[in-house]
Amino acid sequence: MEEQNSHLQDRKTVVGMILEGIVTTKNDDQSVNIAPMGPRVDLERKRLILRPFPESRTCHNLIRRRYGVFHVIDDVLLLASAAIGRVGTPLMFPAEKIDGMVLKKACRWYEFEVQEMDDSNLRTEMTTRVIHQGHLREFFGFNRAKHAVVEAAILATRVKFTSRETIADEFRRLLILVEKTGGKDEHRAFELLQNYVQQFPDDKVSLNEG
Ligand SMILES: Cc1cc2nc3c(=O)[nH]c(=O)nc-3n(C[C@H](O)[C@H](O)[C@H](O)COP(=O)(O)O)c2cc1C
Repeated sequence: MEEQNSHLQDRKTVVGMILEGIVTTKNDDQSVNIAPMGPRVDLERKRLILRPFPESRTCHNLIRRRYGVFHVIDDVLLLASAAIGRVGTPLMFPAEKIDGMVLKKACRWYEFEVQEMDDSNLRTEMTTRVIHQGHLREFFGFNRAKHAVVEAAILATRVKFTSRETIADEFRRLLILVEKTGGKDEHRAFELLQNYVQQFPDDKVSLNEG
């Protein structure tokens, strides 16, 4: 039993916690794809384990090119916009050690290379190694409205597989936090997500898939 527990502990340490952020990858035409992703991270050992859905552009790009940049951000307007494909072209600069781009609004960034891929599950598991990392500015800190927008953004990306009632209930609860503790950007981000969910066509909803 003790042995089993220590094995579990080891795995937990190796696999690490999930850190929500944004991954940029290069598309086939060299343009940049920007998508929120929540890898498991072990930053001391310079490891990120990404689990992109196989149908995502990020997954496609990482299979083809094997390089990407993971960003720790506190700009939830950028995260929400990226989650629903409305991000436009935010300011970026070239990564230092890989063929990739860094978001200027990030707090920190991690340039990574995919080392192993396991596609035997619903999500492809990609074990990556951090080749280079950089710091742009301090993280804002905890804020309930920012966290509420992150939750709402995750729900918005699952609109196809989640009932309208569940989403509406969650959004009502999250809106209270945005109203209490958010700034202009958090309000705008929440509004964007609400509109996206409300306008999502009924015929694209397939509740059985997820
Ligand atoms: C905070 C956050 C974390 C997310 N983490 C993941 C993830 O780990 N894997 C995944 O496939 N999608 C994740 N998503 C959903 C993707 O961002 C979403 O499906 C997006 O449209 C994928 O974009 P792409 O097709 O350009 O890669 C996450 C969304 C949010 C808001």
